[in-house]
Amino acid sequence: MKIVEVRHPLIQHKLGLMRRAGISTKEFRELASEVAALLTYEATQDLETVEEHIDGWAGPLVVQRIKGAKVTIVPILRAGIGMLPGVLDLIPAAKVSVVGLQRDEQTLKPIAYYEKLTGRMDERIAMIVDPMLATAGTLIATVDMLKAAGCRRIKGLFLVAAPEGLKRIEAAHPDIEIYTAAIDERLNEHGYILPGLGDAGDKIFGTK
Ligand code: URA
Repeated sequence: MKIVEVRHPLIQHKLGLMRRAGISTKEFRELASEVAALLTYEATQDLETVEEHIDGWAGPLVVQRIKGAKVTIVPILRAGIGMLPGVLDLIPAAKVSVVGLQRDEQTLKPIAYYEKLTGRMDERIAMIVDPMLATAGTLIATVDMLKAAGCRRIKGLFLVAAPEGLKRIEAAHPDIEIYTAAIDERLNEHGYILPGLGDAGDKIFGTK
């Protein structure tokens, strides 16, 4: 599986700011979006382009345009919404396919309570966004859902990933690509990433 830990200085600097205790909602939210934009830049390096003939200011010109297959961004509720503005800054025409999952108390498996995918999923590159790749339970269920809808090219963008989650997603879906600003040390007994960011959803939305 392709796993890219994006070590760009701007990303590392911004992620460092996000790790501070007592960070404000405003600052965390802004930084989540900015790091998401930088991850998007990295994750879209392989988009194919085609030549287009245009009238330039000084005469006819050949320029590049992104080819055929378009992107759909897939924020996982709730925290994934925090990365959406940054991704849309770079891909403003992208369709957004929102998914929401919660754990079934009986089976402990994530089940979808919300799924609103855009059309022609089989022609699109899906870019899942979620700040934390922890146990990967939600991610695996989301990829299952996207594949069932016909999606064949799937990328996941995360602010922080845990080694345990990366192992699980690699075993379940080795064909997807992961872009993360950091691969941290481990999960704690509550499923939180250490050193991590704490509860990313609470920090983005200002809840507790
Ligand atoms: N979700 C979070 O918000 N933080 C973690 O560390 C793990 C899952």
